[in-house]
Order: sequence, then C-alpha cells, then structure tokens
Amino acid sequence: MSVHISAKKGEIAKVVLQPGDPLRAKYIAENFLENARLVSQTRGIFYYTGTYKGREISVGASGMGFPSIGIYSFELYTEYDVDTIIRIGTCGAYTTDLKVFDILNVENAASESTYAKFAWEIEEEIISHQGNIFNTINETAKEMSLTAKATNIHSSDIFYRKDPAVPAIATKYNCPAVEMEAFGLFANAKHLGKNAATILTVSDIIPTHENISADQREKALKPMIELALESAIK
Ligand code: HPA
Repeated sequence: MSVHISAKKGEIAKVVLQPGDPLRAKYIAENFLENARLVSQTRGIFYYTGTYKGREISVGASGMGFPSIGIYSFELYTEYDVDTIIRIGTCGAYTTDLKVFDILNVENAASESTYAKFAWEIEEEIISHQGNIFNTINETAKEMSLTAKATNIHSSDIFYRKDPAVPAIATKYNCPAVEMEAFGLFANAKHLGKNAATILTVSDIIPTHENISADQREKALKPMIELALESAIK
C-alpha cells in the first residue's frame, strides 16, 4: 500500500498504462486484458492488473493535472517498483494542421508549471520523454501501420482561460497541441531514472471547436490503446 494506492506490493506490473480517467482504465482492463483484477480503488482511481498476450500489465488512472499524475506516478515508481509508465490521453489541437483522431507520440513536454522546479529542482521548462519506450512506440506504430506523429506538446495547468490566443510557451517550443499531465510524468521519471512516454489522441481542434463526441470516444481511442499495449509488451 502507498498513500494513495491500496494495492499490495507485487500486485502492480512493471509496466503501467495510465489514462487520465478511472473509467477508461476500467474499460481497458475489461476489454483488452485477460484475467484483470481490481487491485486499488482508493478515491475511485481504479488500478487493474492482468495480462496482455501473456505478459503482465497494469492499467490505472492518473487523474487530471500535474498534482494528480505527480502523486500516482511517483508512488507507482517508488512504492511498486514500476519501471515504465505509458500515459494514454487526449489533447486539444491549437492548429487545424492536426485532425481529430490523430495519434501523437510526445517527444518533449513544455510547461509554464513550476512543478518540476519545486519538486525536483529541474529548472527546464521543457522535459523530454524518458528512456527507450518512446522509440519502442515509434517502431511499434510502424509495425502496426499506424501513424503516431512524434511531437512536442504543451502541458498546461489551465483548461479554461480568458485569452483564447495560443499561449506563448506553445509557440516558443513548437507545440501544436495541449494536455495537462505529460510534463509532470516526465519530470518524475527524469528525477527517478525511470521510463515514461505519453501517447495522445487529438480529441478536439481548439480553433474550430470540432471534437470527438462522447459516444465516438471508445472506438476513437482503440488504436492508441492497442499501440500502448503492443509497445508495453516489447
Ligand atoms: N486543453 C487541455 N487538455 C486537453 C484539451 C484541451 O483543450 N483537450 C483534451 N485535453
């Protein structure tokens, strides 16, 4: 048990898929894993462990934002000896060059957040994916004939804001889309010497308000989930 996860030691696999939403974790466990067991449900943040093609995998939620993913990823790495976390989430595109359903493999996450600085004295405002799992995802995507575009992403603390303009940091670091967790995950993994990647599906195009509807989401996220699972067992 850790402060926020009630699984016993040994009940979480070395590789964890981490969607933001606990119900997405449940959906993945029930539809993609074999013999999935619910190993933690503290605060309604579900963690399941099962097998995929015979290999043990866990899937559990990060919640939203740096405080939440900061807590869960830290406890997974330090209390459960997790080696690799693959965040699987959605993002909003700042540009119509991206389309809904596009899949992105995050190379670097840029943020105005002070999370990395105050947690780990990491001063940089842009942090790379950690370890080799990013490359594994790229190679696996090719094998699956999926396009997973390597890109920088803006990791923001803010969902609702006054000024609709693209934030300066996104322009500075060439980030075509925004989400709210990758920077926190990469900061923890960098500090701890662990592996971390983030795969995102574009769920909305901010300038046009086009989005993937709620009933399209399950189907829309399937290629990303399969890419994460196939990469996780490599
Ligand atoms: N902003 C931040 N995070 C997101 C968005 C967004 O527009 N869409 C999906 N995740």
